[in-house]
Amino acid sequence: MKKINIAIDGYSSCGKSTIAKQLAKELQYIFIDSGAMYRAITLFFLQKNIAASDIEAIRSEISNIHLHFEFNTTTQKNEVVLNGVNVESQIRNLNISNNVSHYAAIAEIRKLAVAQQQSIGKNKGVVMDGRDIGTEVFPDAELKLFMTATPEVRTERRYKELVATQPDITREEVRKNLEERDYIDSHREISPLRQADDAIVLDNSNLTMDEQLALVKNMVNEKL
Ligand code: C5P
Repeated sequence: MKKINIAIDGYSSCGKSTIAKQLAKELQYIFIDSGAMYRAITLFFLQKNIAASDIEAIRSEISNIHLHFEFNTTTQKNEVVLNGVNVESQIRNLNISNNVSHYAAIAEIRKLAVAQQQSIGKNKGVVMDGRDIGTEVFPDAELKLFMTATPEVRTERRYKELVATQPDITREEVRKNLEERDYIDSHREISPLRQADDAIVLDNSNLTMDEQLALVKNMVNEKL
């Protein structure tokens, strides 16, 4: 059967990964959470105490970053491995979230991540979510979605996710982080977050997961 690439972009915590994972399972495609790569790269530089403003140090260290994905059969998810260490459990906290957009705006870092993402997608059969998938990574993706939801819905979703492992976190901290990341991601010079001209907008504020999946599956079937 014909295989396609599906690009899912949008603001933080719109449920991009959720729908991407469900679709990949249904279609038996590879699901790649591209944000995990930028989070792992952020972890690398934070561990080395290299600030996002220190471009010289970033340039000289970047060739020491090796990323790949490994499939976790329990979570049914491709998890990111940084220099041989699976860092999935270290990249979802607020410290990484508060720093990642600054590193993700740097040309050298984007070049590294995008090259690897494009190589994963070259044989099609990939569902990838992120900020620049439909515009930069797979400009020729057969299906492009641009997801949105109200800030209140997004804050609540991310808060519920984070509070399970970080009980001290507040809704206000989460809201502020989403707002800041969305601002930086949409205003950076290189590959800012924007809707591709041929993307379909999906506002899921008032959709159940089942409704959303049914809708998107119809869109996929039209492309196959
Ligand atoms: O998807 P997630 O929220 O985990 O992404 C974390 C951050 O990584 C985003 O806020 C953005 O700064 C960066 N990112 C990006 N391009 C992508 C995916 C993520 O710049 N394709």
